[in-house]
Amino acid sequence: MRVLLTGAAGFIGFHIAQALLARGDEVIGVDNLNDYYDVSLKQARLNHLLPHKNFSFHKINIADKESMRPLAKLGPTHVVHLAAQAGVRYSLVNPYAYIESNITGQTVMLELARQLPQLEHFVFASSSSVYGNSAKVPFAVGDAVDHPVSLYAATKRAGELMAWTYAHLPTIPCTGLRYFTV
Ligand SMILES: NC(=O)c1ccc[n+]([C@@H]2O[C@H](COP(=O)([O-])OP(=O)(O)OC[C@H]3O[C@@H](n4cnc5c(N)ncnc54)[C@H](O)[C@@H]3O)[C@@H](O)[C@H]2O)c1
Repeated sequence: MRVLLTGAAGFIGFHIAQALLARGDEVIGVDNLNDYYDVSLKQARLNHLLPHKNFSFHKINIADKESMRPLAKLGPTHVVHLAAQAGVRYSLVNPYAYIESNITGQTVMLELARQLPQLEHFVFASSSSVYGNSAKVPFAVGDAVDHPVSLYAATKRAGELMAWTYAHLPTIPCTGLRYFTV
């Protein structure tokens, strides 16, 4: 598999990259190394991955469609899209970061996927935050998720709905994962 992995320098992305490389896949990593938390931690993760012959890295903001477009030529067969502005509290401080990475970025990734005729699967990160303050436990994938209690959750839910529409195009099988606290 040739996997386009966004958020490759992030917590989950780094571990997924390691697992994919260990089983022999090729990983095309993307991350903008933003300073939402300590950049040296992200760089240290990358330093582990960069020596691997099957790993390449592109420092790109996923919301920048012109910079993302050339990656289609690398011919990924799978997309694992994790790059996002995470965090509930920070959405009160910098709401526009969520719109840029989670809404515009999601759109760029889905549009990029349409340019990949060989694409077999598009997997993206959603969040358990879409369940809002629901008192019903355990949560189930069929529960109503239309009362988000943060902008972060609202953008994650929006990302799911956007992917749903693209999943109806014949070439884009899509799976969204509602991660809990990883
Ligand atoms: N860790 C959790 O418990 C958890 C829970 C629910 C959902 N998630 C989701 O899983 C995904 C990965 O989470 P994580 O914990 O690894 O977060 P993380 O913040 O460690 O990793 C995200 C990475 O994406 C990068 N990034 C952010 N915006 C970008 C942009 N516009 N362009 C390019 N790169 C960008 C960041 O630099 C970072 O390295 C996210 O989508 C997050 O919302 C995580």
